[in-house]
Amino acid sequence: MTTPAYRDPALPVEERIDDLLDRMTLAEKVGQMLQLDARGDLEDIVTQKLVGSVLHTSPERMHRAIELSAGTRLGIPLLTADDCIHGHSFWPGATIFPTQLAMACSWDADLVERVARATAVEVASTGVHWTFSPVLCIARDLRWGRVDETFGEDPVLIGELGMAMVRGYQGAGLTDPTAILACAKHFAGYSETQGGRDASEADISRRKLVSWFLPPFERAAREGCRTFMLGYQSMDGTPITANAWLLGDVLKRDWGFTGTLITDWDNVGRMVYEQRVCADYVEAAAVAVRAGNDLVMTTPQFFEAAQEAVGRGMLDERDVDAAVRRILRLKFELGLFEDPRAPDPARQAVVIGSADHAALNLEIARRSLVLLTNDGTLPFGGHPTATVAVIGPNADDPDVMLGDWAGSSGQADWMPDGQPRELVETVLDGFRAVVPAGWTVTTARGADIQVLVPDPEGAFFPDGEIRRPVFSPAPVDAEMLAAAVAAASAADLAVVVLGDTVALNGEYKSTATLDLQGAQIALLDALVTTSTPVVVVLVQGKPSTLPASALRAAAIIQAFNPGMRGGRAVAELVLGLIEPTGRLPISVPRHVGQQPVYYNQLRGQHGNRYADLTQEPQFVFGDGLSYSTVEYGDLSVIDPVVAPDGVVQAQVTLTNTGSRPAVETVQAYIRDVVTSVTWADKELKAWRQVSVAAGESVTVEIEVAAADCTIVTGDARRVVEPGAFELLVGRSSRERDLLRAAFTVAD
Ligand code: NOJ
Repeated sequence: MTTPAYRDPALPVEERIDDLLDRMTLAEKVGQMLQLDARGDLEDIVTQKLVGSVLHTSPERMHRAIELSAGTRLGIPLLTADDCIHGHSFWPGATIFPTQLAMACSWDADLVERVARATAVEVASTGVHWTFSPVLCIARDLRWGRVDETFGEDPVLIGELGMAMVRGYQGAGLTDPTAILACAKHFAGYSETQGGRDASEADISRRKLVSWFLPPFERAAREGCRTFMLGYQSMDGTPITANAWLLGDVLKRDWGFTGTLITDWDNVGRMVYEQRVCADYVEAAAVAVRAGNDLVMTTPQFFEAAQEAVGRGMLDERDVDAAVRRILRLKFELGLFEDPRAPDPARQAVVIGSADHAALNLEIARRSLVLLTNDGTLPFGGHPTATVAVIGPNADDPDVMLGDWAGSSGQADWMPDGQPRELVETVLDGFRAVVPAGWTVTTARGADIQVLVPDPEGAFFPDGEIRRPVFSPAPVDAEMLAAAVAAASAADLAVVVLGDTVALNGEYKSTATLDLQGAQIALLDALVTTSTPVVVVLVQGKPSTLPASALRAAAIIQAFNPGMRGGRAVAELVLGLIEPTGRLPISVPRHVGQQPVYYNQLRGQHGNRYADLTQEPQFVFGDGLSYSTVEYGDLSVIDPVVAPDGVVQAQVTLTNTGSRPAVETVQAYIRDVVTSVTWADKELKAWRQVSVAAGESVTVEIEVAAADCTIVTGDARRVVEPGAFELLVGRSSRERDLLRAAFTVAD
């Protein structure tokens, strides 16, 4: 018997695809378009639904899945996927890095690329070919439950860090055995919720999309991210799954994307039972395929429905073929027909949670911490002996160090106890490990955040998924509180670790308020009345609004979910063993009612106050302190008239006037002085990270291409309008932190 052409690795990929497609029945083609949850009946999924892909495959089931697919009529290998979004989330013992939001505080694309590379190396050894990462959504309303998964609020920062992750995942190309497929998600506008409510209709004009929400995705498409995942939401009444303009005209035609699209979880079904724009699954299947979707995530009904749609003439089989072709191309390019890239225990033993990855994890955790306030108490070092009381509900909670999409966060069912406890360094662990000999570390919990109660909506979601217990605020426990006050009073420094929990972050878990929940404010209020200096450490998925007692504390450190090594990094920072270098990638409001407070708002409104509150955020995009003081001076634009294809070149001098070294993130914003339509008052265009030794001055060069000094017109065209501009350079986006220099873009 001759070997079929599709099995011949010497033939060009397109020829192999042609051959295989010719051999496939309609059922086999439609099956290829399905991605189902491997926690279901694996045998049925692979041998009856003939799926092309599975997700959430536990380590135990991975071999079986591969074996089953090898035994199907044509032996088409499975594409295996998972949400390895800050490390190999659901692999016991894998390196779990800080969340995207925490990593974004580093503003360091090279470091983020190294994290993604390390993740890929771990993931690739386990039989998973594809990670659903990075998230390129713009976080503007902090009530939304998925802010932790984003790189914050700025499209340029998101684009830069997102592409670093794509490069890291995809490595040297798909033939690289350590490469995994990246997935830009959630395309596009999903985060623009109403009232923070997850997956609500996004009220978003074309101009707004083109201005902020699409640019990170455009980079991803143009720079070779091989897959895109759709959002859940609809825009102008059209679910993304059915948005032929966005998927076809914008993504494929204008940006030249030739990769593979996947819907989000049961998007096809949701058009029937949630958004109710399709009468049944047959119609929904036809609509989704016609709009240009390739893989359909977790809609088992699609298998029968798409075949029926073809049978009834509602769907052209050529559209099915085109989608299957894109799926098969990935499999051929990954070489799965020759080598299904099965789990490799020998390699796992070397790479999973390796010492190198643990060191990298500590490096990014250190870089992700943002010092928000400091009355001079920090760094707290140089004492021959001291007692540090590490207090608070998040002081010793391993789950919140990792955050959502890790271990026991709920998406996988094979790690009920989360990642091995000994791999996670909580803040308490961190202090115990790094305080000098002769120091004492004490602890008290002080307060609870939550009590978990059964979901009042019932036991299951409409698609049959189990509803997990939901958050309810914990009451104050007077005894616990008193013990914490006593511990603080007896100490030289109280480090109080507050924040949120995994139950307050994630899909379906948007919050109505941004307050510190449960008994936390009572705890903090009590602690600041002691004579011991209090350092507040915020370990949380997303920023909170802070009570007056937090602002009166000696210092505030924003840690978000800092990953497995985060607790050690926090202790090192408090003790001055490292310098604070993180900068906020997102603005922090004073009050939930100020939402949204992102920095690049459009000009033109009455005043800058509410009748009862300033509109100023508590902390702005770009904020973050050092242990030193760095002065910015002498900003000059070298040639103040720049050709449209030229580059604005500028210099600024940084002088470290303090006594410790500093790593500054020099931020460059552009202001277009007069625009033909309203536009953002300033937009981040570039940044440089520089080390400045104590007492030293350094000159920093800044470059911004004139072609990047754009606005978006009323009819959604991105243009440069020649004329007067300002270059704004400084330590944050706050107006008074910025030096200004004028320049002109010539006609
Ligand atoms: C739904 C989420 O929205 C998406 O981000 C994730 O990748 C998929 N589920 C798969 O878990």
